[in-house]
This record gives sequence, structure tokens and C-alpha cells, in this order.
Amino acid sequence: MKESNKPYVILSAAMTIDGKIATKKGDSELSDKADWKEVHKLRTQVDAIMVGKGTILKDNPKLHIKYYNHRGYYRLVLDSNLTIPLDSNVISFQQEIYPTIICTTENVPLDKIKKYEDKGVKIINVGDDKRVSLIKLLPILKNLGINTILLEGGGNLNWSFIENNLINEIRLTIAPWIVGGKEATSLVEGIGFEKIVSAPRFELFDVKVRTYYITLRYKRK
Ligand SMILES: NC(=O)c1ccc[n+]([C@@H]2O[C@H](COP(=O)([O-])OP(=O)(O)OC[C@H]3O[C@@H](n4cnc5c(N)ncnc54)[C@H](OP(=O)(O)O)[C@@H]3O)[C@@H](O)[C@H]2O)c1
Repeated sequence: MKESNKPYVILSAAMTIDGKIATKKGDSELSDKADWKEVHKLRTQVDAIMVGKGTILKDNPKLHIKYYNHRGYYRLVLDSNLTIPLDSNVISFQQEIYPTIICTTENVPLDKIKKYEDKGVKIINVGDDKRVSLIKLLPILKNLGINTILLEGGGNLNWSFIENNLINEIRLTIAPWIVGGKEATSLVEGIGFEKIVSAPRFELFDVKVRTYYITLRYKRK
């Protein structure tokens, strides 16, 4: 079988019973310790973790591993105009173990890029579209030796992957809350599909039930 020119992408998220990954104020503390441990284990098995700019701005995650020994991986941030703060945790925290790559566009001036490179960040310019094009980006990442990506949101980036049919696998934890709210971020944002037949279909291959939480795993049909 011909090897794919794109990395294998696993979408990972914790969502409420009503499909939200954060409240309207951006509170996303949905996982308990057992769930985090499983997510961190999954992180040990991939070459990179990817998030969108919105997740950096709202959560300022370190995207590191607790609980397990590991060799490290890339942290990938999609930020079309290079705007995340220079003191974000993905830039200031342990780049020697988790090198950070910011994927941006050719619209960003060179002097701005230099400020990030001076902090040890690698910048990949992905064409001159308004937004980073995933179709152009994924083969570039594969060429860097990134064969598996754990996509950790948020909702808008998840939609771009779904829209372009780029998700191979999903690990989804359903946490025992209902938060409601039109402004609360859903697992997948974007404009959505008009018809079920146009939407990608996934096959359920694992279900884990423990007190209050359910974890579902799907593969692309
Ligand atoms: N519960 C969970 O598991 C979980 C996990 C992750 C995040 N979250 C929550 O999700 C929320 C953030 O989600 P979000 O939807 O606001 O932000 P997001 O998906 O993290 O980031 C979206 C931003 O990424 C940039 N981007 C660059 N290229 C893109 C592309 N091709 N497609 C889509 N976006 C692209 C865009 O900004 P530019 O146009 O400026 O580049 C866009 O506004 C936070 O509240 C966070 O707590 C929850």
C-alpha cells in the first residue's frame, strides 16, 4: 500500500454531555486526573501535539507530559498572523524537550518572525492564504518526520480538519456536565455540513466507562 504523504491525525478532546469543550467564559477544566493520565499516555505515542491560536490565548497550555517518561515531541501552533504572546508557555517552557513550531503565513513580516526565532521557535510559512492551509501544511510536517499528530483543539481548528477530511482517529471523553450557551465552544465549530451524507463517518472501536466519565474511540470509516 502507498504510504500517505500526510501524518496520521488523532483528535483528542474532553467534552460535556452537550458537546462543549469549554464554557462561554473559556473554562475547559473537564478532565479528571484519570483522564489526564490517559491523554498524557497518548502524548507519549505521537510525534507532535497541535493546537490552534485560540487555545493558546485562552488556556496558555504547556502541552508537556506528567506521569510518564518520554522522549519529547514537537508542539505545533497554528497562528496565521503570528500573534501569540512571546511569553506563552509553549515558548517559555521546556523547548529543549518539546520544540515549538509555529505554523503561519507569508503575510507575516520578517522582523516579527525574528522575535520568535530568537526565543528558539521554528517558524513554518505555509503559503499566502489568509489562514494556514492544512492541505499544504500536513505534507510539510510529514517531511519533517512527523508521522503522528495528536490534535488537541480547539473547536475551530477541529472543524478545519473535519472539513478537509483529515482526521484518522478520535479519542473523546464525555465529562458529566451540561454547560449550555451559544458562545461556549463546541467540539467542532465552523459552518458545518448541510447533509449527513457529506459528513465524514467514524467507526466506534472502543468504549471505556468509569465513574461519571465515558471515553469513546473512533476510526475513520
Ligand atoms: N476540552 C478540551 O479538550 C479542549 C481542548 C482544546 C481547546 N479547548 C478549548 O477550546 C477553546 C479554543 O477553541 P477556539 O475554537 O476558540 O480556538 P482554536 O481552534 O484553538 O484556534 C482557532 C484559531 O487558530 C487559527 N488557525 C490558523 N489556521 C487555522 C486553520 N486552518 N483552521 C482553523 N483555525 C486556524 C485561527 O486564528 P488565525 O486566523 O489568527 O490564525 C483560529 O482563530 C478554548 O476555550 C479552549 O479551552 C478545549
